[in-house]
Amino acid sequence: MNIRDLLNDKVQQAMQAAGIPADCGAHLAPSKKAGFGDYQANGAMGAAKLMKSNPRELAQNILDHLDLGDIVEKTEIAGPGFINIHLNEAWLAQQTQQVLNDERLGQQKTSSAQNIVVDYSSPNLAKEMHVGHLRSTIIGDALVRVLEFQGHHVVRQNHVGDWGTQFGMLIAELEDQLQDGEAAEFALKDLEGFYQLSKKHFDDDEDFAVRAREYVVKLQSGDEHVLKLWAQFKKVSLQHSEEIYQQLNVTLKGEHVRGESAYNDDLSKVLAELQTQGLAKEDQGAQVVFLEELADKEGNPSPVIVQKKGGGFLYATSDLAALRYRTNFLKADRILYFIDARQSLHMNQVFTLARKANFVPDSIALEHHAFGTMMGPDGKPFKTRSGGTVKLAEVLDEAVERAAALIAEKDPDLTEEEKVDVAQKVGIGAVKYADLSKTRTNDYIFNWESMLSFEGNTAPYLQYAYARIQSIFRKAEIDATTLECSIQLKQEQEKALALKLLQLPEVLEQVTREAYPHVLCAYLYDVASLFMKFYEACPILKDDVDSETRTSRLGIAQVTAQTLKTGLDLLGIETMNKM
Ligand code: ARG
Repeated sequence: MNIRDLLNDKVQQAMQAAGIPADCGAHLAPSKKAGFGDYQANGAMGAAKLMKSNPRELAQNILDHLDLGDIVEKTEIAGPGFINIHLNEAWLAQQTQQVLNDERLGQQKTSSAQNIVVDYSSPNLAKEMHVGHLRSTIIGDALVRVLEFQGHHVVRQNHVGDWGTQFGMLIAELEDQLQDGEAAEFALKDLEGFYQLSKKHFDDDEDFAVRAREYVVKLQSGDEHVLKLWAQFKKVSLQHSEEIYQQLNVTLKGEHVRGESAYNDDLSKVLAELQTQGLAKEDQGAQVVFLEELADKEGNPSPVIVQKKGGGFLYATSDLAALRYRTNFLKADRILYFIDARQSLHMNQVFTLARKANFVPDSIALEHHAFGTMMGPDGKPFKTRSGGTVKLAEVLDEAVERAAALIAEKDPDLTEEEKVDVAQKVGIGAVKYADLSKTRTNDYIFNWESMLSFEGNTAPYLQYAYARIQSIFRKAEIDATTLECSIQLKQEQEKALALKLLQLPEVLEQVTREAYPHVLCAYLYDVASLFMKFYEACPILKDDVDSETRTSRLGIAQVTAQTLKTGLDLLGIETMNKM
């Protein structure tokens, strides 16, 4: 159940019954300060302004028409016309009881399920995945998981860069190495080194360069020999990405790959359509669309090149073709892109042009969810000491190594097997959470110490909170998943924790509306912190706790554990019973 929506609907109904126009919202939100109730409705002020009446009187009028039954303890008017809502403890206890051992934790499947296409990760296959691909991969995956949990139908699209001029030299290089008897897997073991080598041959060896350029043309025209080499290259490069996805606990699989190459045959159709509509025009040998909609301050329209002089198509052209595919074939209701903020102009151009050419109707939402850059400790974009790009695989290995060292020190009692498992989950969880917990649109500084800290808003802190609850269950010698109890909320810490636990659905709603996973992180951190306060104030296993209170508190602890586990799982982070 979504408490916020429930209250919002009720207040809205009361507003209408009180004669307030239907377009005035109830504006319901959790109260920010203690003493102002659990939720606040702020709609009376706006409505009073519109109706030119007294906001406090209007608030009273709303209250006179509001019947919240046993949900509330009391309501009151505060300040200029806020309505404070204090929820009833018995009702909260009953709601908490209902989600105990419900794996959906009160989250109903949406009655308005959408077809949602999510474009994320999308690395260029010419090179190894580097830290620049981390953000898109994990933010996109968190969103996909939450949307599916809400009951939407999600189509993952890994729009990999597997086409274009770079592939000519890579294929020529691969051909040479295969001729020397090398297996493709081995030749491409170090993709980064392979790229450098082929680039060197391209720059230094004229014959090689000629052949590489020839291969670009042959690739586009479907030459069998060249296509075969290209397919081999693509296969091995994708294996590299898939290893990373697996290590990162990301849900992307081979079947989600639909790269730029998939649109090769559509590119000329896109161009023809743009020409027919009079949108694409020749400009210095290239085909260009000038968008007045995105003109600069001087009024110069924004140029989008769809075909280069010489016939080659561009990144924007494949994105337009992809949009047509997603609209016409995938039947998307909403399309989300998780791409670096540096591509904002590109996305803006593509969206504007797609609407203008009627490739995508207004009913389909197009959303570019941009994110900032991951910075090194020096505050500059994360690089190796020599200034090169940092391979993602190396960062992840280091994360697990660092976590292993910490675990060896903190948890000497774990078995060797448990230590390996915990190090993996803590190390990877720490890297992901450090990223997901920051406001997506900002740059952030990558810092090993803070992300691996067991205190503060980190993955290890939350994983530890979960493991700690499991250890309580072990001490109590119970199986919490089949616990029978009657939950009661007697202490204020119990009530505060229970209310927070019941807010998961409304938090998830905010996460998917704005594509902000940090909102879920902040929520889980609140849950863990409120649990610690509860555990301090409300002993569970002490001798003087009567058995009814004990099982009630065990029940609250179990709902907390379920919430932490589900929430972390939606972020793609694993939990363990012991750490
Ligand atoms: N391959 C691109 C890059 O690495 C990202 C592609 C993002 N998706 C898209 N539809 N343009 O920069």
